[in-house]
Amino acid sequence: KKITFITSDNQSIVTEANSGNIMELAVKNKVKGIDGDCGGVCSCATCHVHVEPSFWNAIGAPDELENDMLEFDDHVSEFSRLSCQLQVSEVPDGLVLKVAK
Ligand code: FES
Repeated sequence: KKITFITSDNQSIVTEANSGNIMELAVKNKVKGIDGDCGGVCSCATCHVHVEPSFWNAIGAPDELENDMLEFDDHVSEFSRLSCQLQVSEVPDGLVLKVAK
């Protein structure tokens, strides 16, 4: 699957993966702004991304735990997700994600 990250300085980073979660994919590809400090257990919000609106229906809204975590982030939008909670196997091919500030 092809997954594109757009960093806050507008760089596009196109990555390929078939398994794992999106935070790990971003860290592996050194996507600026995705740190994954908590290791992917939904407790740091350093993996925050904005899903491109056209993909939002395919991705879906965060669950309660993830939502609680997102509330701590000042840059949250209606398309916010924590990328460690998104599995590569479950997202659409060609997905575009904007790295949150
Ligand atoms: Fe910590 Fe996603 S890596 S919440």
